[in-house]
Amino acid sequence: MAKNDRAHFGSKLGVILASAGSAVGLGNIWRFPYETGNHGGAAFILIYLGCVVLLGLPIMIAEFLIGRHSRANTARAFQILAPSTQWRWVGRMGVLAGLLILSYYSVVAGWTLEYITEAVTNGFAGKSPADFIASFQSFSSNPWKPIFWLIIFLLATHYIIVRGVEKGIEKSSKIMMPMLFIIILILVACSVTLPGAEKGIEFLLKPDFSKVDGSVFLGAMGQAFFSLSLGMGCLCTYASYFGKDTNLTKTALSVGVIDTLVAILAGFIIFPAAFSVGIQPDAGPSLIFITLPNVFQQAFSGMPVLAYLFSVMFYVLLAVAALTSTISLHEVVTAYLHEEFHLTRGKAARLVTGCCIFFGIFCSLSLGVTKEYTLFGLSMFDLFDFTTAKIMLPLGGMCISIFTGWHLNKSIVWEEISNNGSLKTPFYKLLIFILKFIAPIAIAFIFIHELGLL
Ligand code: TRP
Repeated sequence: MAKNDRAHFGSKLGVILASAGSAVGLGNIWRFPYETGNHGGAAFILIYLGCVVLLGLPIMIAEFLIGRHSRANTARAFQILAPSTQWRWVGRMGVLAGLLILSYYSVVAGWTLEYITEAVTNGFAGKSPADFIASFQSFSSNPWKPIFWLIIFLLATHYIIVRGVEKGIEKSSKIMMPMLFIIILILVACSVTLPGAEKGIEFLLKPDFSKVDGSVFLGAMGQAFFSLSLGMGCLCTYASYFGKDTNLTKTALSVGVIDTLVAILAGFIIFPAAFSVGIQPDAGPSLIFITLPNVFQQAFSGMPVLAYLFSVMFYVLLAVAALTSTISLHEVVTAYLHEEFHLTRGKAARLVTGCCIFFGIFCSLSLGVTKEYTLFGLSMFDLFDFTTAKIMLPLGGMCISIFTGWHLNKSIVWEEISNNGSLKTPFYKLLIFILKFIAPIAIAFIFIHELGLL
């Protein structure tokens, strides 16, 4: 591929896998379990599922159609579909959100690399749950190591972005995604059979609505946007590389189902294991890093070779899942800089990588050395997470749904959903109704409630 060409996907399967690759990542395996743990378990999951169906899928379809119709980066897409209006700010806010998410997401992605080296050097063998907690704490608060891995991870992302989407992401997704899924299933089986796992299963299945408050709704909504890669034009940018015959509704459904399944299964790995070894479900961002090594140690206690193999494979696949997500975030910002400011793709990509390393370093340090410096009681890492997942993405999603429901010419919407009349569109009216009324009102309501404005 020539350096300045727009990237494109080569096949239908490639489209689904790349979009699912963007959606499935640390959001499912790292963020979903700890948000579920922080918000009390089953009730959070039910509300999360509601958000996926009612807000996530319709907004995903909206992003797809905006992207494919305009065939441009997010900011330009709004300019093409609504010339000389303020709608372009939705795209610009998305680009900024992408940059911020990529910065702190890469910190955690970097942790997975440290855990790969631990697994490869058999560093988990013979350790107790308390050891895993201590070693995670000493690693994440170390000033140098996490930054080293953060930089390596961003450079890997950079390399693939510069090489092109088709060769890089599509090929690796086709093998790695199914492998990740299989290994997750095996780990679920291991985790639910650990002694004392029932409490974890109960935590996931028995809703306790007495704990539900506004923050649970905001958390579930934010998690749905984050996990499905919505609200900042990420899937919009990917859809600009879709072919004419891609069925947008079906693709959205497939991506939604795969993403949700992986998240729920991740829950079934983490919580039975956490309860089994006595780790608190609300341990926060460290949850999977202190829980999972126990699964490998305990479930395969008589079989050290299996413990070794599974732990190496799991962390490698987790890193790959994170990589297919960081690529999609990077691509949004790179495509924007490349197309709007006439930088070469290479230059645009270097700028993005440089910025993310810069912000990422501060996010990483904020979990250790600079822990005391907080804003609104949040470290820089948590602040980046909160402002993007819980404010910018839902706000972006609300704008996208109002834009598609009210502003955009309905003939464009119909043309894209039905592929110019060649597909049946049984959900068309429902989709428009949700985008016009339900999604904007629901998001506004959750915002107003949680921010204390009501
Ligand atoms: N959805 C990804 C995950 O679950 C992260 C991600 C990729 C993302 N692109 C995004 C989140 C765009 C929000 C917006 O890991």
